[in-house]
Parts: sequence; structure tokens; C-alpha cells
Amino acid sequence: MISAAATLMAISPDHLEAATRLSRQAGWPHRREDWEVALTVSKGCVAVAADGRVIGTVLMTPYGSDSGTINMVIVDEAERGQGLGRRLMQQAMTLAGDRRLQLVATEDGLPLYEKLGFRRTGEILQHQGQLAQAVAQSVVVRGARADDIPLVAALDAAAFGADRSRLLAHVASVGEFAVLERQGRVIGFAALRRFGRGLVIGPVVAADLDDAKALVAHFLARREGEFIRVDTGIEMGLSPWLSSLGLDHVGGGIVMHRPAADDTRRRSPISFALASQAFG
Ligand SMILES: CC(C)(COP(=O)(O)OP(=O)(O)OC[C@H]1O[C@@H](n2cnc3c(N)ncnc32)[C@H](O)[C@@H]1OP(=O)(O)O)[C@@H](O)C(=O)NCCC(=O)NCCS
Repeated sequence: MISAAATLMAISPDHLEAATRLSRQAGWPHRREDWEVALTVSKGCVAVAADGRVIGTVLMTPYGSDSGTINMVIVDEAERGQGLGRRLMQQAMTLAGDRRLQLVATEDGLPLYEKLGFRRTGEILQHQGQLAQAVAQSVVVRGARADDIPLVAALDAAAFGADRSRLLAHVASVGEFAVLERQGRVIGFAALRRFGRGLVIGPVVAADLDDAKALVAHFLARREGEFIRVDTGIEMGLSPWLSSLGLDHVGGGIVMHRPAADDTRRRSPISFALASQAFG
């Protein structure tokens, strides 16, 4: 048992190689570049064993001063069940201060989070695969221009409930945005970026399901055969349509908040797909 003696220290770019190895071991698809993006917008720590091996990670991604997510909670499989996951989570919660926290839990993480005061508020369905059929592009959706981005950030804040403009700026630096325009007004948006095994579409923010499909379709057009991933809320209605396109439901996670709050109240516009399970 070495995890009891592990030292927790601030995560830095020097730890990216080891962090990527740990997420692979957990069966997650993150590439080093995905960890780089996560690190740029987050604070966090690693657990280092006496022999210098990185045996645990955790990140806290702040959205302004009152909200954030906890993500990349991983303990080396040889070191689990000895309290290291709890120590990492407590460190992340210290970094978060008074922020209201959200996370998407795996089956492994759920008992720990419940013990730390997180409560279930929703469920995420992970859809992915190779696009099986051609999808037509919608005429109301166009590629975003630089001057759309402040509006995109405002729509995202209304849908997500927190200011994620810093995260969106990083998504823009590695990917692209599309907006849905009606009567000259931008009323929805979606983002596409390279992640894991292929491309991820999200966040997707729209007024209704048809607009959300139009935004997703914009990025699916001419991408037959490409590996695409979309993480969507179970109640959002996108799931059957994604399955019909060959993007199978392969798993997901439990959305949890601390403190628990009534997150079922409908926001407007609506968040139909996550930036990622890590970022919400
Ligand atoms: C989730 C994970 C980080 C937990 O790490 P860990 O070091 O084993 O966790 P701990 O030993 O600190 O255990 C934390 C608590 O959860 C409890 N727990 C863990 N698994 C449990 C289970 N299957 N059922 C009930 N309780 C469980 C432990 O008893 C412990 O409670 P205690 O602190 O009151 O004694 C680890 O399993 C992991 O890396 N899994 C793969 C990656 C993953 O899924 N991460 C979660 C992402 S949301």
C-alpha cells in the first residue's frame, strides 16, 4: 500500500504524459492534447508516490467565482480503495472554495461523490460512432464569425447557468463554432473540435429540439465515415435521432451537483449537448 503515503501537488504540464497514461488505463479516450486543453482552463493536482510515479489526478474547472466542475478524477487501478480518491476530491473541493460544483460521475465514482455531499440531478447519454448516412445541412445554420463569439458566450451562460467564456475561447482555438440565425438574430450555437478518438460536437445550445438537430446536422454534413461523439442529457430528445444516424449509445454518466439544487427548472435557451463530460 503506497497511496496512503502519496504526496498531493499542483498539476503542471510536466505531468501530462503520466496523466494521459492514467486516463487510458481508466478506459477514457483523452489524448495528451485533450489534457492540455483541460489543464489550460482548470486547476488541479496529482498524487505522486514515494517512488515518483503519478498515481492520481483531479481537476477543478472554474466558471467565474461561483460555479465550476470537478473532473479527471482518476486513481491508478493498483492504488484504489485506500482513500486516495477521497483525498484528491477534498483537494479539488478546497480549490473550488464556495463555488457550486457539478460533475458527471462514473459508476466507480458515484459512492465517493455521494459521501462528499454531491446529489444526482440528471443523466448523460454518450453517443458515438461512425456516421452511417449523409446528413443534409440546414440553411439557417452558418459558420460563426469572430463577432458572434460574445453572443455565443451569452447564450451558453443562459443555458448552462454560469459564465464559461474562457472555456469557449479555448474550444474556439482548437475547433470551430456554428450559429443558428433567425430574422437576423443568433439564437443558438454548436461547437466542433477534435477530441479522443475523433470529433466531438458540443456544446449545443438551442431554443428547441429541431434547432438543436439543425446545429448538429451542420457539423455532420459531409462527415460520413468519421468518428463523431455527442454527449446529451437523457431528457433532451436527441438520443433516438443520434442512434438513427449510427451514433450509438455506448454509455454515459450521472450528473451530480453540490450543493444539490433544483436543476430541473428549464432554462432558455436549452443546453442539448455537453462540451464534454468533464466540462459540463
Ligand atoms: C473513482 C476512483 C477515483 C476512486 O478512487 P479510490 O482511491 O479507490 O477511492 P477511495 O479509496 O478514496 O474511496 C472513496 C470512498 O468511496 C467508497 N467506495 C468506493 N467504491 C465503492 C463502491 N463500489 N461501493 C461503495 N462505496 C465505494 C469507499 O469506501 C470510500 O469511502 P470512505 O472514504 O468513506 O471509506 C477510482 O475508482 C478510479 O480512478 N476509477 C476509474 C476512473 C473513474 O471512474 N473516475 C471517476 C470519474 S467521475
